[in-house]
Amino acid sequence: MSDSSTEMALDREIAMRRTFAIISHPDAGKTTVTEKLLLLGNAIQLAGDVRAKKTGRQARSDWMAMEAERGISITTSVMQFQYNGHVINLLDTPGHEDFSEDTYRTLTAVDSAIMVIDAAKGVEARTRKLLEICRARDMPILTLINKLDREALPPIELLDHIEQELGIECAPMTWPIGSGRSFRGCYHLKEDQFTEYEQGHGSTLHAYPCHGALESDDVRAWLGSDYDEFADELELVRGASHTFDLEAYLAGRRTPVYVGSALQNFGVDHLLNQFIAIAPPPQERETHTHAIEPTESDFSGFVFKIQANMNPRHRDRIAFLRVCSGRYRKGMRLRHVRLGRDVKVANALTFMAGERTQTEEAYPGDIIGLHNHGTIRIGDSFTEGENHAFRGIPNFAPELFRRVRVKDPTKSKRLLQGVRQLSEEGATQVFMPIASNEIIIGAIGALQFDVVAFRLQEEYGAECVYEQSDIFTVRWIYADDPQRVSEFRSRANAQLALDGDDQLVLLATSRANLQLTEERWEDLTFADTREHALVDSQF
Ligand code: G4P
Repeated sequence: MSDSSTEMALDREIAMRRTFAIISHPDAGKTTVTEKLLLLGNAIQLAGDVRAKKTGRQARSDWMAMEAERGISITTSVMQFQYNGHVINLLDTPGHEDFSEDTYRTLTAVDSAIMVIDAAKGVEARTRKLLEICRARDMPILTLINKLDREALPPIELLDHIEQELGIECAPMTWPIGSGRSFRGCYHLKEDQFTEYEQGHGSTLHAYPCHGALESDDVRAWLGSDYDEFADELELVRGASHTFDLEAYLAGRRTPVYVGSALQNFGVDHLLNQFIAIAPPPQERETHTHAIEPTESDFSGFVFKIQANMNPRHRDRIAFLRVCSGRYRKGMRLRHVRLGRDVKVANALTFMAGERTQTEEAYPGDIIGLHNHGTIRIGDSFTEGENHAFRGIPNFAPELFRRVRVKDPTKSKRLLQGVRQLSEEGATQVFMPIASNEIIIGAIGALQFDVVAFRLQEEYGAECVYEQSDIFTVRWIYADDPQRVSEFRSRANAQLALDGDDQLVLLATSRANLQLTEERWEDLTFADTREHALVDSQF
């Protein structure tokens, strides 16, 4: 292929791609929506497949067995499917007990998100936190208000709630007629058209009947005595709410809102059609020197997640890499930038609708899995020879903490090695207080402590005791003047620790304690995320 036709092919592949995640509180319907998206993309034939895989599939390792035993949902990390000429990469954000820092970090590897809200509950805690992370990146968000086939809060109240709680403007795109037993369907505000809800079509694709305009006789006849009330409500909605604005959506300020019932496969197609039309294709990504455009011909990408123990005999780990520019070809040589080492990548994996296969090629927005024998870390960049390192794949301050002590003191070296290695995988972090010999593990989801306990024992032979800790949160400390950091270090010694990469952190015991320290040392930065170190002489 000539250079220009290669470029055109790359442009075409980029324009086709959409890489996104679903954010929601547990039980709002993320898995059900995922399933219906795969059904619409013909990646599965019958709803129920994803759920079956969630529970039935894995017995590949002890660790997986542990997950299965506890009935924890294990969805596949990446699902690629096609829909109406688009290639869609859906990245899973672990949600229930498997909620972890990976959930947050996955949001750094997508270009947009779909927020699913339970119509009976409105905005819930987890959604708030996840949306905060999206908002910090000005990420475009589409919203689905789900479970309209059940009794729901009044939709106007729901939109108000979303706007107030999340600080994002709502632009209703479809509007429900009733909910629960009286759910009749929805109205498309822009198209002036109705879709009628019929029960019992949840597990397959179903063409729900359409009705014409609000003013049509057909609609008056169909809605009957519900008509007047609905028309009044609509007038109110039109008067009081924001309209769709592409620019405001792309800037992350306004979210188009759809309604539906994922369980009944009603309304998810409206959302998906809009999603492929307006969601951004792969976007540029910042490195420590400049922004990389996806259209650049040289390959580049970053690792945002490491999944361990797919095969315990080989201690196999898969590093999930988001392609940022150029094209991956099987067998190509890639530079592992942090190590300054070139490696041949012959067996990267791709994740078509959740099945792992070896990939021949991949484009910006795609996720490929690299086999990792312990050298790859979260945040690592791979390029076609250039030394740029991507930014914005941080560690997040953990929300839960445990003190860990090894039962047999002769094994303390193993413990240290284990907790450090596990923290490189990114689901937990380790902190070593400067003034003591303690080891503290931090996590975002409580299950991660069980995982650490299990793996430290199984893989490192370190049986440990885990104790509650009085740490409220951590902050990474930075300053323009290194002298100030030294002063802080000597004055606040008892409250400081080093993380797994020997970066200085404050261990705050309460919100008040944190605030007080921030006020006292106002020229220092107390960051709740940490960028990964480039750790290489080249920088
Ligand atoms: P999650 O991944 O966000 O945690 O939610 P998930 O899709 O697993 O859905 C949580 C529960 O809500 C499931 O019920 C699911 O069937 C139900 N659900 C999801 N979408 C809808 C909807 O549109 N309408 C109604 N009525 N229910 C919905 P479950 O009883 O916990 O699980 P299951 O027994 O159905 O598998």
